[in-house]
Amino acid sequence: MATCAVSPQNGFYMNSIQPNSFLSVPTGPLQISDLSSVTGNADNVLTLFSLVIPTYNEAANIQKIISVLSSLLDETIPGKYELIVVDDDSPDGTWKIAQSLMVKYPQLRVMRRQDERGLSSAVIRGWQAATGDVLGVIDADLQHPPHVLLQLLQAIQQGADLAVASRHVEGGGVSSWSFMRRFLSRGAQLLGLILLPGVLGRVSDPMSGYFLVRRRCVVGKILNPVGYKILLEVIGRGIVGKIAEVGYVFCERKEGESKVTWKQYVDYIHHLIRLRLSTGFLGQFSQRIGFPIGRFVRFGLVGFSGVFVDMVVLYLLSDPTTLSLPLTRSKIIAGEVAILNNFLWNDIWTFADVSRAQLQGSQRLKRFLKFNMICLAGLVLNVLVLNLVFNFVIPNRYVANLIAIAIATVWNFWVNLKLSWRVTQVK
Ligand code: GDD
Ligand code: MN
Repeated sequence: MATCAVSPQNGFYMNSIQPNSFLSVPTGPLQISDLSSVTGNADNVLTLFSLVIPTYNEAANIQKIISVLSSLLDETIPGKYELIVVDDDSPDGTWKIAQSLMVKYPQLRVMRRQDERGLSSAVIRGWQAATGDVLGVIDADLQHPPHVLLQLLQAIQQGADLAVASRHVEGGGVSSWSFMRRFLSRGAQLLGLILLPGVLGRVSDPMSGYFLVRRRCVVGKILNPVGYKILLEVIGRGIVGKIAEVGYVFCERKEGESKVTWKQYVDYIHHLIRLRLSTGFLGQFSQRIGFPIGRFVRFGLVGFSGVFVDMVVLYLLSDPTTLSLPLTRSKIIAGEVAILNNFLWNDIWTFADVSRAQLQGSQRLKRFLKFNMICLAGLVLNVLVLNLVFNFVIPNRYVANLIAIAIATVWNFWVNLKLSWRVTQVK
């Protein structure tokens, strides 16, 4: 491996910054660009390796991990690497400690995220800001032994596209996991193998959060992870040729706490299903024609639930056996309740990836108002199309109504996609 010394700052192009300032947080889709658009110059790559260290409440570990990684990499690739801490505004002030370390460790960069959360997206945001040709990730809590990094780098240098630290190959293991944790970990792997054999079957430890990948394998792919398992996303959506695995022992955590809860298991299953759908036949077709079929199907299902809600409310308000309010007034209320129902499901399901990045109440309210306006316009369109089709094309009111509903649904979907749930700068 080339070890020519380069002055530390030379590797940094775009974000060559004031000492101590934070990296700005990339916004928009979780997509990694090629080096020329990051550094402005693809031929003169000086940062060989960008290692992201995601942190949440790691105040007790951050100094140690930075110091160990720095001395390791200063020996092997001095000046040709960068360490990128991505902290989600930890209440224990991890970001502040990391920031103060930048003076001592010139290869260190720090990103403090305040509008977005989650391990996987933290890693991708870090990679988006990275200037290296090889991208990597390691936990901050020293459970991933740092020295293994050199073997991973070597594997990449010897031609691997992806080098994964694995607990399940020669030299690997877990230090003292309970039977329950082992069982859950293996059960999760088995489920993944059944749902996504082409992804999980390629590595012995698909749950690993310690790996290196060549930038070119993931360039241009929109990574869309849920929860913790970023490696699945890289293998599932990236173009990954040769994979190398290096055994490691997952050490016990000495400081701080693990952030794993039951939610991570639910997220994991959700992630598998999502990856299955989007990398399957339909997903590829959807990409080719540039229309989000999966999203549209979810939108349609939510629409169906709205019909049901509308009916129930109409019954409760206007039926002679219930409140027997006037029909028009009841229908307006029923329609509005259905719109609210649809909005909520679309916000937490159909467009979850977008709304998760824009969680403030005011942002949600804005989306709701836009959705409401667009749906009302959709209703007008519905009536117009019904009349046109019925009077001039097919003189059957039910067929005409179906056509009108179909057109209004596509309208509602498309305009909401473009206007209500769009990724905007969240400042
Ligand atoms: N920025 C950010 N945001 N970092 C986070 C978040 C988050 O929401 N949640 C966790 N982290 C950081 C932690 O601070 C730590 O550095 C790392 O991500 C892993 O989190 P842990 O909570 O320590 O996870 P773990 O020890 O249970 O699991 C790890 O090992 C598994 C087995 O190899 C993770 O690396 C898993 O990805 C891995 O599969
Ligand atoms: Mn950990």
